[in-house]
Amino acid sequence: MQRAHLFVTLSFLLAAAIGACSKPAGDTTPPDDTTTAPPSDGGTPPEGGEPAEGTDPAAEQKAAEEAAAAAAAEKKAAADAQIAKGQELYGANCAGCHGPSGEGKKGKGPKVVGEGALTLDPPKKAKLRKGVQFNTAKDVADFVVANMPPKKGGSLKPEEYFAILAFDLSANGIALAEPVTADNAANIPLRSAEAAPPAEGAAPAGGAPATAPAPEKK
Ligand code: HEC
Repeated sequence: MQRAHLFVTLSFLLAAAIGACSKPAGDTTPPDDTTTAPPSDGGTPPEGGEPAEGTDPAAEQKAAEEAAAAAAAEKKAAADAQIAKGQELYGANCAGCHGPSGEGKKGKGPKVVGEGALTLDPPKKAKLRKGVQFNTAKDVADFVVANMPPKKGGSLKPEEYFAILAFDLSANGIALAEPVTADNAANIPLRSAEAAPPAEGAAPAGGAPATAPAPEKK
């Protein structure tokens, strides 16, 4: 009987020991809970961060696009205003020799608008424009500011010359996305509309083809 009792006791102790051992395991669980807790804490920041990162990118991009569109529209409006001003100045200072619409006047001045105007190479009988090529708006600006009106080069203000230039370019079918200035004139090619392919390259410049009378013969 005593043996049996001892056995029971040992069994009990053993069970207790196992239970004790298993407890540690249970103690390990809490850590898991602790591990689970952080996520929730960590999860909160993400929520706070999402609005900043998630909402802004899309909103920011849209805002940027709208701002860009607004800026482009503003530049275009400024270009249109420059062209209008240039048309007036052209009428007052240049039309007498180059014709009301830039078609030229025999014995007075060559055409500055339309087919054959602002040619790359100077006219054979040119006296002032000898050896001067017109590749970009800047080339024309440099020549005009220095030589036009004849013997009165530089008599107009720089911004007036550029306004007249803007009008002349526009009249020749070169669309302006922004006002012509000393800084960007070199970036405005005169013959982009003539090179057939430019349809794509001219796209940014806009409706150049629409007004361009040049393409007909060439
Ligand atoms: C008194 C007449 C007269 C006036 C005014 C005049 N021009 Fe001229 N323009 C000429 C003559 C003449 C030529 C040809 C010069 C040459 O022999 O190279 C010329 C040439 C030009 C050319 C070069 C044309 C080409 O294809 O070679 C441009 C551009 C031009 N003028 C623009 C203007 C502008 C802009 C104004 C007004 C600010 C103006 N001109 C005022 C007589 C005039």
